[in-house]
Formats: sequence, C-alpha cells, structure tokens
Amino acid sequence: MTRRFELDELIRSDNFIDGRWTPASHGARFAVTDPATGNTIAQVADSSEADARAATDAAARAFPGWRDTLPKERAAILRRWHDLIVANQETLGALISLEQGKPLAEGRGEVAYGASYVAWFAEEATRIYGDIIPQQQRGKRMMAVKEPIGIVAAITPWNFPLAMIARKIAPALATGCTVVAKPAEDTPLTASALVMLAHEAGVPAGVLNLITASREHAVATVADWLHDARVRKITFTGSTAVGKYLARESAETLKKLSLELGGNAPFIVFDDADLDAAVTGLLASKFRNGGQTCVCPNRVYVQAGVYERFAALLGERVAALKVAPATDPDAQIGPMINTRAVDKIARHVDDALTHGARIVTGGKRLTELGPHYYAPTVLADAKPNMLLNAEETFGPVVPLFRFESEAEAVAAANNTSFGLASYFYSENAKRIDRVSQALEAGIVGINEGAVASEAAPFGGVKDSGYGREGSRYGLDDYLSIKYLCQGNLA
Ligand code: SIN
Repeated sequence: MTRRFELDELIRSDNFIDGRWTPASHGARFAVTDPATGNTIAQVADSSEADARAATDAAARAFPGWRDTLPKERAAILRRWHDLIVANQETLGALISLEQGKPLAEGRGEVAYGASYVAWFAEEATRIYGDIIPQQQRGKRMMAVKEPIGIVAAITPWNFPLAMIARKIAPALATGCTVVAKPAEDTPLTASALVMLAHEAGVPAGVLNLITASREHAVATVADWLHDARVRKITFTGSTAVGKYLARESAETLKKLSLELGGNAPFIVFDDADLDAAVTGLLASKFRNGGQTCVCPNRVYVQAGVYERFAALLGERVAALKVAPATDPDAQIGPMINTRAVDKIARHVDDALTHGARIVTGGKRLTELGPHYYAPTVLADAKPNMLLNAEETFGPVVPLFRFESEAEAVAAANNTSFGLASYFYSENAKRIDRVSQALEAGIVGINEGAVASEAAPFGGVKDSGYGREGSRYGLDDYLSIKYLCQGNLA
C-alpha cells in the first residue's frame, strides 16, 4: 500500500545529504514565503560551499553502486517513486500552490505532469541500447555502449517546483547517474518533499542529494559544483543570463550541459485561422501559471483582417478570468511569485502605454488582493520598440502586434535571440508546412497551445539553450558513449 503523507510531514527544512536530513553546515536558515500573503511558511537551510561539497562527496561514493544496479532495479524504484507522487497528489499540489502561488487545480495538474516524467523514465531505463557496428575488418568487432555520465548537478526554477526537478532527476537516476540538486530559493519545499518520497521509494543513500540556499548564497554554493571535476553534468532551467554564467564558469572542467533557458515565444494568428480555437489555445498557453512559463506566448501577432475581431474575442475571455489566491477553488490566476516579478510586469505595461499601446482589458496591479497580483491584461497596438517585445514579461500580459503578410509575421517572430516555443494558427495546409519550417524554435505549436508532454522533446535553440528533456531523446544528455573495439577474433 503506497503511503500518504500529511502536509506537515512533507515540509522539510534541512538539506538531504547521504540519506540524512541535515542542517546547513553553518546553521544558517532563510525564510520561504507564501507569495499570496508574504507570510513565512518555513525557515530552510541556507547552504554554503561546504554543503555543496558534502553533497558531491556523497554522490561520488554512491555512484559505483548505483551505476552497477540493473536497469530493471532502477526502473522499479522509479516506478515506486511515481506511485508515491501520485498517491500524494493532493498534498503535493497544495504545497506547490502554497509556496508558488498557482491555483490548486494547476498545482494538482503539475503533480500529474511531473509524475508522468518519472513513469516515462522508469520505462526508458530498461531501453538504453547500444550498437554493434557492422564489421569493417575480419577478426575485429566494434561496439558502442552507453554509460551513465556520472554525477549530475540539477539546478531548478521556481515556476514548476515539482515538474522541473522531476524531469531532471528521473532520467539521471534511470541512466545510473547520481544527483546533487538545488531548487530555486522561492520554492524549495516541493523539491524537498519530492526527494523525501524518492527516499521512501528506495533510492539509496547518496544517490540523490538536495541542498537549499538563499538568493544571497546561491551563487557561491553552486560554484563548488561548477568547479568540481567530479560533477560531470549540469542540467539547468532558468534565465539565459544564468545559463551562460553556468556554461562559462564550468568550462574549465568541460562538463556536459543541458540548458533550458528563457523564451520570448511568438504566437501568430493568420487571417485563415479558426479564431475561436486560436483564442482558446492562446488562453491555455499564455495564462498557464499566470504567464510565468518559459513557453508562454510573449508576443502575439494577428493578421490585419482579423485583428480587431480577435482583440475583442480575446479581451472578453481574458476579462472573465478569475484572479484569486490558490486557496480559492475557482481561482484561475494566482499571485506572481514575488515583488521583482510584479514590478517587471508593471514596468512592461507602463512602457507599452507610453509607446502608444491601448488597454483592451486589465493593465493594473490588484493590490486589494495582495502585494503580488496583476490583472490579466490585453494590450492592442503593440510595437517593436516596446520593452515587452524584446524581453520575456513572465506574467499575464498579452501584447497584440498587427501584421499584413506571412513573410512579415515570420520575420518578426524570428527577430529575437530566443528560440524556445512558437505557435501559429492557420487552416491552410501549405502555409502550415511553410511556417512550421521557417520558425526558429525548438518547439512549434500548430493550431495547438498545450505542447508539453513527457513523450515529447522539450528544449530550445539560440539563446533558449540546448539539450532536450522528456521523450526518448531525454536520456542522451545523461549518457556517454563508449566505443569498444575487440580484435584478434578470427
Ligand atoms: C518551463 O516553464 O520552463 C517549463 C514549462 C513546461 O514544462 O511546459
């Protein structure tokens, strides 16, 4: 029988190193707060380099034993972990909502989403095939075998505190790697709960280690992993600036990196689109997690012939979205994660208004609900010289840009250093083929706003990073290929 835990049993405030919950070596702590109210939920370990080193030491000791387990043994442990996550869906969902602010329905949904990666990689663990290369010379056999890369450092973001760490740890464990992890300082509690369940599922001591650190100490703490040659891989989801920093700083030890970085996703609505489907797709992709998602559309291009109709349809649906704390069962948009986030949204909207944008709906903070709420917003007459064209707003704001021709829309969509997701709506088969090839992005949603799936390769191009998560490609980044050449056989 899979055990269910109460919320207070899942809330852990220490580091998890070598199978034990341990305070930070200097005894320091930092507050984790509820973004809806600013109230403190827990005081968690504020780690230093010494804690990062202790986690790596444990992962290094555990590596040979874990590497040598049978794939089906690792698969069974991952399956048990999956079952525990699913059995505790309600409580984990509530914990996500508490520390991250997303509505409860989305918190629950994130648990199912994260668990799906664990189930997927439990199955993939038993399918890590190599090759026997067709013979080139008599008496000689050549083989390519795949081996776990070694210790993996997983550094994860606050916007999906369960799903992002699950989709990094699951492939690492499936391939036989050991893990050191650091979740974002805004949302460490869900990650710690997940690690606790992994331990309960039978992940041996030292195989999975997690440390937490405040914003002030995160850089120094993680630096230990960047410079430690025993850490062979870094997997990171977060901003492009931090991703580039990790790549630069770790270069001396030539680690393998997977970087899932910022996006500035275009969403194009052609005049031959099914407008209702386009509005529904845009709502689903834009307002997921209140717009705090790397694959959220950030720039919406609408062809001139349908522009005003689309703006009106969208405005009506967006105005009806319910903004409320996660605890309200009808909430569709929660608070933004912190003051920096809501300030950035307000700055982008103010700048757009200064440059001639027109408010269709929203356009203001909702201070009556709390310090971090912003009204879901649609802005018409968006222009390339606005801040929200160049930067990811990461909030519930939809700027509508007008375009005339397909070539103009594609050029504008690609006119960014980012290339994570992109979307377009059209009912014309030839256009669908042309535009899906022309868009510079790792992910293209064609008449579809919900693109994420454990079975699909998730990742970007250009400044959105490299590496893929999920799907059968998602194991590759955790493996190295060894070539075996056996001679004297004839
Ligand atoms: C992200 O925002 O980084 C990931 C979102 C997703 O998995 O769909």
